[in-house]
Amino acid sequence: PEPDPADAVPDAGSSDHVLLRRIGRVDPLSLDDYRAEGGYSALREALRMGPAGVLREVSDSGLVGRGGAAFPTGRKWQATASQPDRPHYLVCNADESEPGTFKDRVIMEGDPFSLIEAMTIAGYAIGARTGYLYIRGEYPRALRHLENAITVARERDLLGDDVLGSGFSFDIEIRRGAGAYICGEETAIFGSIEGERGEPRTKPPFPVEKGLFGKPTAVNNVETLVNVLPILLMGGPAYAAVGTEGSTGPKLFCLSGGVRRPGLYELPFGATLRDLIEAAGGMPEGRSIQAVLLGGAAGAFVRGDELDIPLTFEGARAAGTTLGSGVVLVLDDTADLVATLVRVAAFFRDESCGQCVPCRVGTVRQEESLLRISRGGDAASEVALLREVGQAMRDASICGLGQTAWNAVESAVDRLGLFGPAPGEPAGKQTS
Ligand code: NAI
Ligand code: SF4
Repeated sequence: PEPDPADAVPDAGSSDHVLLRRIGRVDPLSLDDYRAEGGYSALREALRMGPAGVLREVSDSGLVGRGGAAFPTGRKWQATASQPDRPHYLVCNADESEPGTFKDRVIMEGDPFSLIEAMTIAGYAIGARTGYLYIRGEYPRALRHLENAITVARERDLLGDDVLGSGFSFDIEIRRGAGAYICGEETAIFGSIEGERGEPRTKPPFPVEKGLFGKPTAVNNVETLVNVLPILLMGGPAYAAVGTEGSTGPKLFCLSGGVRRPGLYELPFGATLRDLIEAAGGMPEGRSIQAVLLGGAAGAFVRGDELDIPLTFEGARAAGTTLGSGVVLVLDDTADLVATLVRVAAFFRDESCGQCVPCRVGTVRQEESLLRISRGGDAASEVALLREVGQAMRDASICGLGQTAWNAVESAVDRLGLFGPAPGEPAGKQTS
């Protein structure tokens, strides 16, 4: 038998949950279960208030994108809705592939109707008749559950012509990725859906102006979209009162590594890294934290003595790191950090689409350099080379992959002092 999606949520059933509240409580294949737990009341509310009302509530909520970049959702939707060019499209980015990220999978497997309802509301707000759900190819169960949800929703007038007799027509098509990390980049998704190679395009123009098939398109992550349901039910201002001023609402964190109870956690923004690790039962007896990787492979390391960092977008930024898509990977005192960096570098080398030179060549050089260090090479000269290559990738790559491929290595050098003292620190701080 397949594992239950709730197995990934250590405190499944908690009354504090907003986004995860149905995980483990409903049969993901049953629309009646979903409705009994409040499903489709947000769509009714949306149809009552009209597209302008939805746009206002989402803007008032302060919701920002949960895929990793934290762009204001209300602004993205307003910008798409106001384009005179037609048709407009909605794309749900469900190509969740950042190493250590599994939040969207749990939602799609355990509460698939919530995503279908949220996409319908998004389509209504931005004036789209078609939404594409671009799902990671390695998520077969999520795919099955979403296909079922779409079929059932069509049968019950929740998708298709004249949704709930409102005159609004909207339908959803699923497209599967085929294993390339880069196809999760929003403009590479367009190519993949259009039947071209999945390669990033230069921005601007942003998708809100010229996106899928050259038309105005809003691209939103799964977690971002499902936040719209509580926003409409509680109202934008009430949602904005949860969390902090710069990071409103609840947030999902994908906690992995050496903690006692790794898994998916939902906390209101504002909790610290320490709070999250304590919610997971802390570290096993005798183990201490060597470093924490925030934001996945594209993210950055912080030290084990920096657990007071607030898990908010602005708090992470102020601390010189990033929340990204919510990955928190805890490396204990037994972890081999150099080997971890080599794996991160190999990942980027493997996943670079090769379109631009700094990234295509830089990711290869970065991995080679780290491998030489791991075999006893001269760390000081390799770090100088890594810096030069890293800066070139950051400055001259087209997309986020190349721009962030050096982040984790840089933070290991400068923050952890992995290959010598970090700048401004005494030599005694060296960790390896
Ligand atoms: P970005 O900052 O270029 O854009 C973020 C969003 O805002 C995009 O939808 C973009 O179109 C929109 N946007 C930005 N400026 C705009 C403007 N002036 N007008 C209208 N729209 C505008 O970031 P990007 O490259 O889309 O995403 C990078 C993030 O993705 C990273 O933080 C990384 O952590 C995350 N990521 C997440 C993965 C996952 O599996 N969840 C996988 C890989 C990366
Ligand atoms: Fe492709 Fe890398 Fe250039 Fe992005 S930065 S377009 S992944 S080669």
